[in-house]
Amino acid sequence: MAFHVTVRPANHEFTVEDDETVLEAALRQGFAFPYGCRNGACGSCKGRILSGEVSYGPKRPPALSEENEAAGFALFCQAVPVDDLEIEVREIGAARDIVIKTLPCRVASRTLLAPDVVELRLQLPATERLQFLAGQYLDILLKGGDRRSYSLANAPHDDKQLVLHIKKVPGGRFSDAAFHEMKEKALLRIEGPLGTFILDEASERPRLFVGGGTGFAPLKGMLDHVMETDLDRPHHLFWGARDAAGIYAPEWLRAVAQRAGDHFRFTPVLSDVPAADVAGFPAASGWLHDAVLAAYPDLSNFDVYMAGPPPMINAAKAAFVNAGLPEEQLFYDSFEPAVQPEATAS
Ligand code: FES
Repeated sequence: MAFHVTVRPANHEFTVEDDETVLEAALRQGFAFPYGCRNGACGSCKGRILSGEVSYGPKRPPALSEENEAAGFALFCQAVPVDDLEIEVREIGAARDIVIKTLPCRVASRTLLAPDVVELRLQLPATERLQFLAGQYLDILLKGGDRRSYSLANAPHDDKQLVLHIKKVPGGRFSDAAFHEMKEKALLRIEGPLGTFILDEASERPRLFVGGGTGFAPLKGMLDHVMETDLDRPHHLFWGARDAAGIYAPEWLRAVAQRAGDHFRFTPVLSDVPAADVAGFPAASGWLHDAVLAAYPDLSNFDVYMAGPPPMINAAKAAFVNAGLPEEQLFYDSFEPAVQPEATAS
């Protein structure tokens, strides 16, 4: 039986399905509740129950003392409602509200997505989770103090593993290892979440997403988040690559298009080869920003999210502002190169 939850002081409301915890239901429906371990050990998800009741199964979680529980506190990562609830939680409103952690993790899988892109799925220890907002990135900490930044390609509600799209950079220290040597279960250290490239969820404008190469990764995380939360307006993704192999998520694109219907459009933009369509979507050719402007000559009423290499971002920024886009409606993540020849972000 589903239960209804009202959250104070924000007055948000959501539903918790059978056997779901309050935290799982909140994240699934796009409410950024605070959390850390998600197993009852850290206390980060603590809030107050103003009315209603929850159950923890046979044992109270370790981070909730008897006195705390008697005083009305709850650990929402473990609490399953047995009643409609009114609760008090300090929701995460911005990236600065999230604790940045340094954590060990293991490579759970390594999948070649394109000839020059590999997907790494990272598994944190069973007692840890990394809370993040869609679009943020993490740093891989390398021996000797170097670090490499990669955007998270998954959405916050789907945080069992951390998903990175690594672009091959010839001679790049980390990308070479990711392509050639790294074994499953390899141990890495990460720091995150980082960055402020996140959705402006207060805005009601239609959104354009513009990604070059692996700049698709944070946009995918944002779109996965939007699909679960506020698919209430048009979203148009433009993804630029040299050729069709660079549009490396055809199944995901088709699934999103099918699920979102009229609220999602996708335009692949190929720079090196002409193509009528890619993965069943009509393609454009040439520069990414030209393709956006051909479809939307007046950008004054859009929010634009872009990620990719600096030349792409700089060209698009100037062109979009000329097309009437107010700067405060432009959000971007520029993948600045690190010490040559490694790139810092995917
Ligand atoms: S106790 Fe750690 S997130 Fe709930």
